[in-house]
Amino acid sequence: MELFNLSLLILGLLLLVTFIFRSQRSNGLKLPLGKTGWPVIGEANEFVSSGRQGTPETFVNKRMQKYSPQVFKTSLAGETMAVFCGPTGNKFLFSNENKLVVSWWPPTIQKITVSKSNRSNSTILTKKMKSIIPQFVRPEELQKCIPIMDCSARKHLESEWTSPDSQVHAFPLSKKLTFALACRLFMNVQDADTVARLADNFALVTAGLLSMPIDFPGNAFNRSIKATNLIREVLLPIIRMRRNQVPEKELNITHDLLSQLLLATDEDGKFLTEMEIVDMILGILIASHDTTSTVITFVVYYLADHPHVYAQVLKGIKLWPNFQIPLLFDPT
Ligand SMILES: *[C@@H]1O[C@H](CO)[C@@H](O)[C@H](O)[C@H]1NC(C)=O
Ligand SMILES: *[C@@H]1O[C@H](CO)[C@@H](O)[C@H](O)[C@H]1NC(C)=O
Ligand SMILES: *[C@@H]1O[C@H](CO)[C@@H](O)[C@H](O)[C@H]1NC(C)=O
Ligand SMILES: *[C@@H]1O[C@H](CO)[C@@H](O)[C@H](O)[C@H]1NC(C)=O
Repeated sequence: MELFNLSLLILGLLLLVTFIFRSQRSNGLKLPLGKTGWPVIGEANEFVSSGRQGTPETFVNKRMQKYSPQVFKTSLAGETMAVFCGPTGNKFLFSNENKLVVSWWPPTIQKITVSKSNRSNSTILTKKMKSIIPQFVRPEELQKCIPIMDCSARKHLESEWTSPDSQVHAFPLSKKLTFALACRLFMNVQDADTVARLADNFALVTAGLLSMPIDFPGNAFNRSIKATNLIREVLLPIIRMRRNQVPEKELNITHDLLSQLLLATDEDGKFLTEMEIVDMILGILIASHDTTSTVITFVVYYLADHPHVYAQVLKGIKLWPNFQIPLLFDPT
């Protein structure tokens, strides 16, 4: 249960960081209403406890009611923040990117996921990423992913979602599936040992994302940094090898995110450096992994809760008639 809460929290935080901006020079500026809570920890207690109760949205809803339905002030991850809510708040935020607001990550996440050489210009990295990712998620590109996803999911269900006592744990298995798929779709890594090695280190990375950014031997932050370094050691030779392939051949064979990243150029016509590609892949893995596996877990949960809906789904798509949805649900 602990793990599940943690990833809900990460999911919440990742969603939240896209909706915040740092109030840099608060002196003399009119700030939104709200409380900044305790020194350093701010309102993290309330944020975490609403997550633990399974209703992370109450943290936001309460403050929207109390202060304003569009924006309120709080303090999380060691920073004073403005949280934008509702259609008006979101419209303001997304129509002012790189004008009034820039994307920003909490220091812990930044230190863990962005290599030292790229940390000072991480805004540039984010901008580059935002110009490349939309090409990868175009409908015609995504269509090419579907047969791969379908085949992997079938194999995964046949080999993993069975057990002698007919009990399986949905969340770790969903994570295993989404991680293997991400490795395949992002950089064409299919070797089971490499995937397992990356997954083990990746678990350490996510465990440290919400820790304090204090490097102390053996603590979550320290293990997290070590794990990202190991992941970089695995990814760099893969990227190097692929870069040395003929570009046209590259695009025709693999069709993964890495080929898009290798072929992408910035405004000056320069290719991305290997380290920039590593940082981007790390960021995308983190952003996509917990969110996707949590969604899959909830789908299984609700289907188990509503067998008639499950029956309808099966009738409608005839996908896996041999797959029995679990009757008891324990997400750990
Ligand atoms: C990222 O780091 C590499 C060196 O590892 C450097 O060549 C590149 O310019 C950096 N990119 C940014 C955006 O700072
Ligand atoms: C990246 O940051 C370094 C200083 O850390 C700076 O010298 C360099 O010009 C920056 N690169 C870009 C593209 O802004
Ligand atoms: C983590 O702790 C070890 C000692 O166990 C130390 O040598 C290292 O510098 C620390 N930081 C990182 C990022 O590994
Ligand atoms: C790559 O595919 C395109 C068509 O999609 C084709 O014209 C081209 O010859 C192919 N290149 C190689 C090296 O196979």
